[in-house]
Amino acid sequence: MTGLPAWIAAALQSKLENVSRNDLRERAQAISNAYRAGASSDLIRSDLDALAYAVVRLPATYAAVRAALTHTMEMVPDFAPQSLVDIGCGPGTAAWAALDAWRSVSHATLIDRNPRLLELARQLRHPHQGGIDFVQGEMAKTAGTTPKADVVMASYALTEIPAAALSGILGALWDRAGKMLVIVEPGTVAGFQRILAYRDLLLAQGARILAPCSHESLCPLVSNERWCHFGVRLPRSRDHLIVKDADVPFEDEKFSYLVAARDLGSAWGHRVLATPRVSKAAVTLSLCAPERVDERSIERRQKDAYRAAKRLDWGDLIDL
Ligand SMILES: C[S@@+](CC[C@H](N)C(=O)[O-])C[C@H]1O[C@@H](n2cnc3c(N)ncnc32)[C@H](O)[C@@H]1O
Repeated sequence: MTGLPAWIAAALQSKLENVSRNDLRERAQAISNAYRAGASSDLIRSDLDALAYAVVRLPATYAAVRAALTHTMEMVPDFAPQSLVDIGCGPGTAAWAALDAWRSVSHATLIDRNPRLLELARQLRHPHQGGIDFVQGEMAKTAGTTPKADVVMASYALTEIPAAALSGILGALWDRAGKMLVIVEPGTVAGFQRILAYRDLLLAQGARILAPCSHESLCPLVSNERWCHFGVRLPRSRDHLIVKDADVPFEDEKFSYLVAARDLGSAWGHRVLATPRVSKAAVTLSLCAPERVDERSIERRQKDAYRAAKRLDWGDLIDL
């Protein structure tokens, strides 16, 4: 289970001192309902709103981004970025996950148009020795003007951009990405459809796809009833249980993502697209392959391979 780093949990906890849990729950529920009805983060208009958003969503989006970065680091273990931009940063989620993944980052720029969420990001105060700039701005403008960085990230943020503006913003983000562009979206059919569109646009601009795809040919799930997404399980905090009226001590977050790179190599191995099916006779894997899902059975008599396949999980990479 991927929990929040202790410094974020402690910072949130200190901001929650003296906050009425009833008020927090009321705002959290109003925000969740509005999101479900298609509203954007513009509905977050007060410090309490920003805090309610962070209590409900920050742990899950953090866990999703951190999992996508774990996949990415497996592809390029020697990559040690120096600089990073998190656009549509909200409370700083993707930047905090990237600073956890890559201790080499010496400078981060966090951009958001929402002053309350940006202020919360600032107040969380990452214990980072390097510089962190907080910039309030519209993505359409800042995407093209922000300084180049080794890694540019957009986590659960392009979701809120109108379709007509997306390709321009994506092109600008790719132009600003010195080495890598990381996009994370909700793990829904709609989120996956957007990821597919970004993939086509980025390939047309010469990007190499690093993850999660195992290749740069046609995605096997383009015309499939399944969609490419992954899952993380994370613990629920006491306040999360309260504001969500939940009683299960964990939650599951589904996410889709895309990592495009330049000069870092390209995809290798086969990504496991679903939880492996294990029987006494074989482990059956759904693997990402050009234009089709490769349903591969590894039989018990293939002793070492069977033992290795039993350890695989959804989202893992296997070098066949
Ligand atoms: C759902 S939140 C995600 C926040 C954070 N990246 C995360 O993963 O938790 C979407 C964020 O994108 C920001 N955003 C949406 N449209 C934007 C735009 N046009 N320009 C700048 N920021 C934008 C919102 O203000 C909000 O902070």
